Amino acid sequence: MRKPIIAGNWKMNKTAAEAEALINELKPLVKKSKPEVVICVPYTDLWIAKKAIEGSKIKLGAENVAWADSGAFTGEISAAMLKEIGVEYVIIGHSERRQYFGETDETVNMRLKQALKNDLKPIVCVGETLTEREKNKTKKVLKKQILEGFKDVTEFDNVVIAYEPVWAIGTGKTATAEDANKTIGYIRSLIRKTFGAEVAKNLRIQYGGSMKPSNAKELMAMRNIDGGLIGGAALKAEDFAAIVNYKG
Ligand code: 13P
Repeated sequence: MRKPIIAGNWKMNKTAAEAEALINELKPLVKKSKPEVVICVPYTDLWIAKKAIEGSKIKLGAENVAWADSGAFTGEISAAMLKEIGVEYVIIGHSERRQYFGETDETVNMRLKQALKNDLKPIVCVGETLTEREKNKTKKVLKKQILEGFKDVTEFDNVVIAYEPVWAIGTGKTATAEDANKTIGYIRSLIRKTFGAEVAKNLRIQYGGSMKPSNAKELMAMRNIDGGLIGGAALKAEDFAAIVNYKG
């Protein structure tokens, strides 16, 4: 059985002081949570977040990781830097990085290998844009993102994939649960064909895109959906906790 994983992606929100306050609010609300709970926070919040989550089940994640060990890469943060703080998860290839910061499937692949080499658990984001969807290119886009993003990757035990249709991010538009389930089913079949049945059976695939308390239960009830990557709703303790506690 795949353990559900609900992860917050705070994006570029919350100063360190605000992060501490949000975590302190969140902690009692997710005390009895059944899914794995992760918060992926801005780099400048990691240190204080690590201290704030102490004694709780909340796990810490970053929003990106450099593809090199160290060196002349101004503005980048290495896996070793994240590890030393106690970071466990890292988001790689979020659509906003692809859209605004030139992230490609090739750089996703490099970052992914770097994360795995350093025992960070990657949450690799894939998803089609609205134009791609309207042109019926969803499968083709996902196939490229996965085959190139996971090129030469052989270790999947700690990998999570987040399927985030770009048109559903921050728009209030959610993929219907059936639709998300079907597309995630396609991703799983692709993983099966490429990396084998065992990997496909165990790999956790999240849905992301306007997931909120009111639709979490329905999405999480789907056979192929193993969790959520939550943007906006992760910034409010009550909303995020309601998603984590979707089973009631
Ligand atoms: P929203 O939940 O705000 O739509 O964002 C989703 C997302 O991009 C999570 O990574």
